[in-house]
Amino acid sequence: MNKYHFPEGFLWGGATAANQMEGGFDEGNKGLNIADVLPGGKERLNILQSPGFNFEIDREKYSYPNHEGIDFYHRYKEDIALFAEMGFKVFRMSIAWTRIFPNGNELEANEEGLAFYDRVFDELHKHGIEPVVTISHYEMPVNLVKEYGGWRNREVVTFFERYVNAIFNRYKNKVKYWMTFNEINSGLIMPIMGLGFAIHKEEDKYQPTFQAYHYQFVASAIAVKACHEIIPDAQIGCMILYAPVYSYDSNPENIMYALQEERFFNYFCADVQVRGEYPAFVKRYFKEHNIELDIREGDLELIKEGTVDYIGLSYYMSRTEKKEKSDLENAQGNLIGGVKNPFLKASDWGWEIDPVGLRIGLNQLYDRYQVPLFVVENGLGAYDKVEEDGSINDDYRIDYLRDHIRAMGESIEDGVELMGYTTWGCIDMVSMSSGEYSKRYGFIYVDKHDDGSGTLARKKKKSFFWYKNVIETNGEKL
Ligand code: BG6
Repeated sequence: MNKYHFPEGFLWGGATAANQMEGGFDEGNKGLNIADVLPGGKERLNILQSPGFNFEIDREKYSYPNHEGIDFYHRYKEDIALFAEMGFKVFRMSIAWTRIFPNGNELEANEEGLAFYDRVFDELHKHGIEPVVTISHYEMPVNLVKEYGGWRNREVVTFFERYVNAIFNRYKNKVKYWMTFNEINSGLIMPIMGLGFAIHKEEDKYQPTFQAYHYQFVASAIAVKACHEIIPDAQIGCMILYAPVYSYDSNPENIMYALQEERFFNYFCADVQVRGEYPAFVKRYFKEHNIELDIREGDLELIKEGTVDYIGLSYYMSRTEKKEKSDLENAQGNLIGGVKNPFLKASDWGWEIDPVGLRIGLNQLYDRYQVPLFVVENGLGAYDKVEEDGSINDDYRIDYLRDHIRAMGESIEDGVELMGYTTWGCIDMVSMSSGEYSKRYGFIYVDKHDDGSGTLARKKKKSFFWYKNVIETNGEKL
């Protein structure tokens, strides 16, 4: 027993994304999205961003694990039954934009794609699980990347509006929790996945990136307003990649540097989406760097009116920063870097493990925004071993999750309004950054390997039974 009191109705569950798990990449009239042209392997993000990359599939050169994913497209019934056995209250998934609008710019939605998600939502409801849907999870239609230049082009706002109206109208009785753009702030580091274009010259970075953000904020506000109108009893949130930034030491120069990193990376997007205004630190930056945005009449009012109901966040690690870091070793991370923190251990992929950072982060976010928070991603990517008797004893994963759940419990005692917790990759799937199957996060093991072998059979890990008990006791038994 522990001292934490997770509120009644706390949304326990797991999280996924269409492109990493569905497979069926060319079935049901689906069009290609960014993740479909992502090769397997650790170099995938560099390949995607390299000059001359043509966003085409090249099977002679590369493999494409996302094309098969874990075949959720055909096996969703079996998987949802397993989630239900664990007692999931919610299941976070994304809708693949290109199942609904294969090229992004059609006038009519694709019925086969719409019908697929109907079946998934119905299956979830059959088991008493509420879907939590990300509208755009690194799944921009390739056609919009190639022909329109991604979110740099204002026309994409119109296409996105058509997409959200189609899904809100279709699923208004089935989906009550929505999120707009997955890890929207990640585009500041790597615009290709979320904003749909690559930067090849440093000097070209800021103007197009902030312009694309402006259009995305307009699109987000349109989505929020449409959601509130079409589904009045729904909640719609933003979603940020959150890694609280620590100063390496008490040198005020480093503390100021860490504060700037914190504000630009962690708060910029949330400030606009939650408060409905561009923050002063960004306005100063625009002025000093001669950044002039195409902000049309009515845009700022729209952004003010279309503020989100909650903040969804991914949390895997904190980040430690120093102004002059040449003498220090870099840390690895979820798109973000920083320097190694001497007080923290790291995962097999070098991601620093910091449960206290989650408590710090939740408190900072709540202090700043005073809106409900929802931890929609957190987990440990690790190598799992299937023992001779078939068991998978992932105690390291249980320890990781237990410590983070404790940190959430502390935050709730601190007064943070926390809606729920969906662990990332509740079932093993393809890793986003490294394109590997072997980087596993799940409670459910999937027999699929980096060389493409495997039967795709599902198997319960030790953590499956542990998490079931956590949910059953509403976080009392950890
Ligand atoms: C988040 C993404 O950045 O981290 C997910 O929203 C991703 O799509 C997750 O899978 C874990 O990252 P990775 O690279 O280990 O799969």
